[in-house]
Amino acid sequence: MTTVGERPLRVLGIETSCDETAAAVVTGDRQIHADCVRSQREQHQAFGGVVPEVAARAHLQYLDSLISQAMTDAGVAFADLDGVAAAAGPGLIGGVIVGMMTAKAIALAAGKPFLAVNHLEAHALTARLTDDLPFPYLLLLASGGHCQLLVVAGVGSYRRLGTTIDDALGEAFDKVARMLGLGYPGGPPVEACARNGDPRRFPLPRPMKGRPGCDFSFSGLKTAVKQLVDGLKRADGPLSEQDIADVCASFQAAAGEAVADRAAHAIAAFRHIVPAGGALVIAGGVAANKDLRARLARLAEETDIRMVAPPLRLCTDNGAMIAWAGIERLRLGLTDALDFRPRPRWPLDPEAPPAAFAGVKA
Ligand code: KG4
Ligand code: ZN
Repeated sequence: MTTVGERPLRVLGIETSCDETAAAVVTGDRQIHADCVRSQREQHQAFGGVVPEVAARAHLQYLDSLISQAMTDAGVAFADLDGVAAAAGPGLIGGVIVGMMTAKAIALAAGKPFLAVNHLEAHALTARLTDDLPFPYLLLLASGGHCQLLVVAGVGSYRRLGTTIDDALGEAFDKVARMLGLGYPGGPPVEACARNGDPRRFPLPRPMKGRPGCDFSFSGLKTAVKQLVDGLKRADGPLSEQDIADVCASFQAAAGEAVADRAAHAIAAFRHIVPAGGALVIAGGVAANKDLRARLARLAEETDIRMVAPPLRLCTDNGAMIAWAGIERLRLGLTDALDFRPRPRWPLDPEAPPAAFAGVKA
């Protein structure tokens, strides 16, 4: 089903899997009619990271009014929906339960299909909402919990080429920010400070660079930054503004170079599977990083592949991506029963071999 009579499918999407509470109304003609996001930043800032219990309670507090705002913005009633989608995992279980139970209740009361959406699949399909991109394409998904390179062959059809063997890239940005007292989430302030810094002042490792395959590693780089920061503190007392800027710039350059190297391997692997066409899509919160975008744009140009980067607002967690993934699934008749259970772990490619060298994050 792609339309209802003359009009395209209309779905409400709910996102509560991490620290953004979000609700959006999207239609199958790729229009976003409402997109409401409420960040819980201030609740988690004091802890330097997301506290699951705090997140779940905040979702409970904000979600109802966000949904009602989204419905008002879109000018529709629950009866006008064709489905209700919620992120059903992977993510922090308390938050996922809040969003999923709300979606199920609306679906039940309004007599509409419920759609249990994989949060990673929602990031993966966003480029089809923004750019109408055909399958297959190559995806770099870099967020606070994940860092993966995947071939997106179709809805529900993914082949993982590489993943992180330790930390996610966003997690590395968050930890570096914490070491420097820059607050949470760390990506935006690290990027802002890096703009005034010298990326060549501190030589930092480029993890996995030159190794075969497409796996990532960031914990060695994080440790190197920690040692650097500790050393600077011992030498001069508190870090100067310039020190902080130079550490951020040097870290961002090292991480970016490492990611570009892994992406180059993935493009080569993708070309074996898909000899022409396709695209390199970047998604997830870290895809908001302008330095990383520029590096990957250069790589895409050199390797003659189109690059697609959704607008920043749709890179970080949002409800529109959940609604869109719901529409893609609804079109294929992939609706879910109301006893669908939340999935704290839900890999896109369950068949993927474990990452090389170490403990795996799927
Ligand atoms: O996708 P997302 O909003 O939530 C998760 O599913 O994790 O990603 C959040 C992550 C955080 O680690 C945050 O620090 C990072 O994305 N991030 C950035 C930037 N904006 C957000 N990292 C680097 N540069 C940015 N501009
Ligand atoms: Zn996300």
